[in-house]
Amino acid sequence: MKKTFALIGAAVAVLALSAVSASAQSPIVIKFSHVVANDTPKGKGALKFKELAEKYTNGKVKVEVYPNSQLFKDKEEMDALQLGSVQMLAPSTAKFAPLGAKEFEALDLPWLFKDDATYAKAMKGAVGKYLFSKLEPKGIHGLAYWDNGFHMVSANRPLLNPSDFQGLKVRISGSKIADQYFRGMGAIPQIMAFSEVYQALQTGVVDSCENTPSNYLTQKFDEVQKDITVSYHAHLQYAVIVNSKFWAGLPADIRGQLEKAMDEATDYTNSIAHTENVDALADIKKKGKATLHYLTPEQIVAWKKAMAPTYAWAKGRVGQEVLDVIAKELDIKMN
Ligand code: LMR
Repeated sequence: MKKTFALIGAAVAVLALSAVSASAQSPIVIKFSHVVANDTPKGKGALKFKELAEKYTNGKVKVEVYPNSQLFKDKEEMDALQLGSVQMLAPSTAKFAPLGAKEFEALDLPWLFKDDATYAKAMKGAVGKYLFSKLEPKGIHGLAYWDNGFHMVSANRPLLNPSDFQGLKVRISGSKIADQYFRGMGAIPQIMAFSEVYQALQTGVVDSCENTPSNYLTQKFDEVQKDITVSYHAHLQYAVIVNSKFWAGLPADIRGQLEKAMDEATDYTNSIAHTENVDALADIKKKGKATLHYLTPEQIVAWKKAMAPTYAWAKGRVGQEVLDVIAKELDIKMN
């Protein structure tokens, strides 16, 4: 009898010990979900973060990257982050209104950033900080901004003058600012998840879309749109975000290592974004499926004029405060 008790006791002790050592060894898993291909600035950035995070934490953290809307589509991934079923996302800032942070849509104003350098400076400075402060009350913590350059626009006809947009059904990703500037051109914008765009273009559910060269190439939009205008009329950027509770609950040393990994992955992503898009545009041209068009200075003036009312309209959507922060940082007048 005594022997049996001793045996049971020993077995329980072994089980308890192995449970402790398993939990000590099992890594913290970060599920990082995004909607684009691996072969894009964001896709490469996510994989770089995985590599560095696992290296700096010595395997204590495992990052699982799910590209191409494999886990969730646009709006679902926002819900998943708040519910804790994913830990990290990098949505375009055009998709932040469902989080209750409409201020991010100010970044979609047409012809807001005159070049990559102006964009980068604003996001590293006051604009980036201001916008992240809007996420904290929503239980979301902003870690970094990742660049993906400027939007082109396409259809099965050349889009050169505002009148070419008349009645065109344009897919937009979520921002009401984009909705407004396309309406200014006479188009009919429609919000649709990124993973559905190719088929919608192919079947004629929509006639048109906007995106950056790297997204056109990797989603093959150039194969279902005859004419692409290299307009660069608005900017596409991402905010890498985590659930605040999850982030704050990490051991401090691990959080520090992950921050270092994120800083380096961010420098890497932002350093390749421009070249990736230049190369993607060259590839689209080489493929020869779609014809590329460039606007004349007069056409640019006409586009800007047609889209200009968006600036006054934006006040009611995103609020004066964010517009003031941006105007000050960029040294421009908004209205
Ligand atoms: C889109 O939906 O067009 C973009 O947000 C996709 C992306 O994440 O680059």
